[in-house]
Amino acid sequence: MEERETPEELDERWRADLSEWGIPAGIAAGARSDPWGHSPARFGERTDRALADPEGPTLARVAEALPPGGSVLDVGAGTGAASLPLARLGELVAVDTSAAMLAELETRARRLGVPVRPVVGRWPDVAGETPAADVAVAAHVVYNVPDLAAFLTALTGHVRRRVVLELTHRHPMSWLGPLWARFHGLIRPERPGAGDVAELARRLGYGVRQEERPAPLPRFASLEEMAESACRRLCLDPGRAEEVVAAAVELDMWPVLRDRWVTLWWDVE
Ligand SMILES: C[S@@+](CC[C@H](N)C(=O)[O-])C[C@H]1O[C@@H](n2cnc3c(N)ncnc32)[C@H](O)[C@@H]1O
Repeated sequence: MEERETPEELDERWRADLSEWGIPAGIAAGARSDPWGHSPARFGERTDRALADPEGPTLARVAEALPPGGSVLDVGAGTGAASLPLARLGELVAVDTSAAMLAELETRARRLGVPVRPVVGRWPDVAGETPAADVAVAAHVVYNVPDLAAFLTALTGHVRRRVVLELTHRHPMSWLGPLWARFHGLIRPERPGAGDVAELARRLGYGVRQEERPAPLPRFASLEEMAESACRRLCLDPGRAEEVVAAAVELDMWPVLRDRWVTLWWDVE
């Protein structure tokens, strides 16, 4: 019989695979801004698009488990793209390490008349001060999380009905691979991926279900936007944007291929 890995072994493999994505110190020293940073303004636009056109399996899976006027715990909420578009939302508990993201979320929630309880901090460290909810969602967060088993366990322990995750099929920085090779001679890892998250959640005892689709929107609206982002992620001087544009065209990287988005969910007995 095939020996299956324990949850502890899968958790350790996730942590080890994720650490391979670290940026070598010599390259990081050249960074003009945080190569891993996310812009609240850019995520605000993403939330506004989701509010204008609420769609997709993640919202559907949260909505079908949400009682009328029920509560949602959104972990790594950003500006609220995965929760604010829900109809019948009684209360939103929004957790994020970034106060700037939560401020954008609260502005939109006030406009929509959705009561919000913001919690600034890192999940699961802030679980003790976070109220429980009917349904939890964590969208595009897990590739930031080395201690994945603790993250998932705390999420599941905080809900009465369902946990829903949304994530890209492979690491969200994978599209930059050819540019890392060109500008730094660095080969980026291929793991971990969404399959590893699903496998760990199953081995933790959750009845995981899964749905997959192409990302609903292109990653960038223009080549210039792509080059600006690539310079930041690759720790290149922003003045090298034109070189990045030329390389991306030569390497046949434009338009950037859409990732596949995976929705994983499980019900709490
Ligand atoms: C890529 S954004 C996704 C935001 C939003 N869920 C969405 O789908 O648009 C990831 C967010 O998770 C937050 N984050 C990352 N790790 C976290 C953690 N362990 N606990 C709380 N927030 C976290 C970041 O600050 C960021 O706002």
